Amino acid sequence: MAKILITSALPYINGVKHLGNLAGSMLPADVYARAMRLMGHDVLYICATDEHGTPAELAAQAAGMKVAEYCEKMHIAQKGAGAQFKLSYDYFGRSSAPSNHALTQHFAHVLEENGLIEERVSQQVYSNADGRFLPDRYVEGTCPNCGFEKARGDQCDNCGKLLDPVDLIDPYSAVSGSKDVEVRDTNHLYLKQSALSDDLRKWVNAAQGWPPLASSIALKWLDEGLRDRSITRDLSWGIPVTDKDGSVREGFEGKVFYVWFDAPIEYIAATQDWAAETDADWESWWLTDKGADDVQYVQFMGKDNVAFHTLSFPTTIIGQNPKKMGEPWKLVDQLKAFNWVTWYGGKFSTSEKRGVFMDQALDIAPSDYWRWHLIANAPESSDTAFTWEEFQASVNSDLANVLGNFVNRITKYCVGKFEGKVPEGGEDGEAEAWLIKELQTRLPQLVSHYEAREFRKAMAETRAIWAAGNEYLTQAAPWTHYKTDVDQAAVGVRAGLNLVALFGIIAQPIIPDAAEKILDAMNIPPANRTWNFGKHDDIAKLINALPIGHAINAPDVLFTKIEDPDIELWTERFGGGQ
Ligand code: MF3
Ligand code: ZN
Repeated sequence: MAKILITSALPYINGVKHLGNLAGSMLPADVYARAMRLMGHDVLYICATDEHGTPAELAAQAAGMKVAEYCEKMHIAQKGAGAQFKLSYDYFGRSSAPSNHALTQHFAHVLEENGLIEERVSQQVYSNADGRFLPDRYVEGTCPNCGFEKARGDQCDNCGKLLDPVDLIDPYSAVSGSKDVEVRDTNHLYLKQSALSDDLRKWVNAAQGWPPLASSIALKWLDEGLRDRSITRDLSWGIPVTDKDGSVREGFEGKVFYVWFDAPIEYIAATQDWAAETDADWESWWLTDKGADDVQYVQFMGKDNVAFHTLSFPTTIIGQNPKKMGEPWKLVDQLKAFNWVTWYGGKFSTSEKRGVFMDQALDIAPSDYWRWHLIANAPESSDTAFTWEEFQASVNSDLANVLGNFVNRITKYCVGKFEGKVPEGGEDGEAEAWLIKELQTRLPQLVSHYEAREFRKAMAETRAIWAAGNEYLTQAAPWTHYKTDVDQAAVGVRAGLNLVALFGIIAQPIIPDAAEKILDAMNIPPANRTWNFGKHDDIAKLINALPIGHAINAPDVLFTKIEDPDIELWTERFGGGQ
């Protein structure tokens, strides 16, 4: 049994997430967490809302609410959406929690003591009308590159060029629209990532089990030469920059830590909050001298998050203890990065409300349908295009035809002809030998795909195992034998029922609701729902695992097929296909 710490990138607070966010971080993390729990590991799955930064302020403004109230409301909404999608967080925290304030400030103090944070003067746009410095996105003006008149301070949406707000022509405040702005000197804290480049490179090179997507992004940044990054911003909502006595640092009134500095620290702070609520111990998960050296820490995220998780957050962590005399915090061991799910040729977008969002998705279909489709098509090696037709195909063919039909066929038949009890009689023969061989090859492969976090492969294997069940029934054909040889029919029904239980057991990480229905109908006690497939010989026994006479029921309809008119309706409603 291993201790496995799992985190998925913290969703921004600015709205319920779209299916692209779900598919590229929370869902695979959840499927992995569930699978590892079933294998008997000690799993801790932590996530939270990422509540700071300009996106939070802007979204609150747009909603006409105070930022704190907006965040509170959206945290509840996101927690609810997660629960409806059956995301099995052990704790879903908030980056605005007091624990994260304290830990972020502590980390900054230690970094500064270790010479890794430096205060520097830079030029920044100040708005006289608003009485404040404007962070990048709050300045707009004419793009020096293409002449577009509404370029944002950080980037021109017209030509895509990355900008520095002081380079904008005719700048104005996006807060008030005022043109009464000027460039002034101001101080910010800088994280000296460059000082740890060598340590970071060594660590990235030694990392094992990262997909090439993750290591290549990290190495590309290292090769280009790491730049020191400012980790403070001119905002009022966020974590204040303090001295060790807790008072606001001189010159940092009206400034807070940059959202990307405090957000990953929330992985730890949320663990502290989890521990406080459950009377557990958080140190054994995060401090290597307190047991965390035995923890396998796995992070899940979209590719745009990789640099922050492989360079800047590790700088924060390594920087706590550069001389090996300080607090030894745990670095990530395995990092699973995903490409994008694309929406009809473009990206899903929260700000542009493009695509399907988690709450809307559940009006359309149960969470299991989405979970299966999204994880079976996880954007692992390249972007994956979402289309309604493929969603329909996943549900109708994989879930309804392959799994649903199998379960219905054999359980109904057993109820009809064998009083709903696992029948005795007959001897396993050729068809059963074939089936056992299939399981002996496929089950160990399934387990190793999960262990390697290869989700598409794990799902393909799962589907193949379900399909082998149908193939077996075709070979065994109990309904044909029943007329002439009831014992022979009993063999097929017995093996078939055992397969139903097995199919439910392996479905649990992916489609937890349907799996529960199946296992409840089969009267499988919770203790027997775990993944102890064992070795070769044990697998051979799986098709005769249920005791003779064990009573079962036929579950209600497991999956409803998606019809063409449904698709037309959704296409119209969500604008897919255009
Ligand atoms: N909120 C970020 C995003 O959605 C992810 C933050 S991950 C964390 O892209 F590590 F910083 F928390
Ligand atoms: Zn431009």
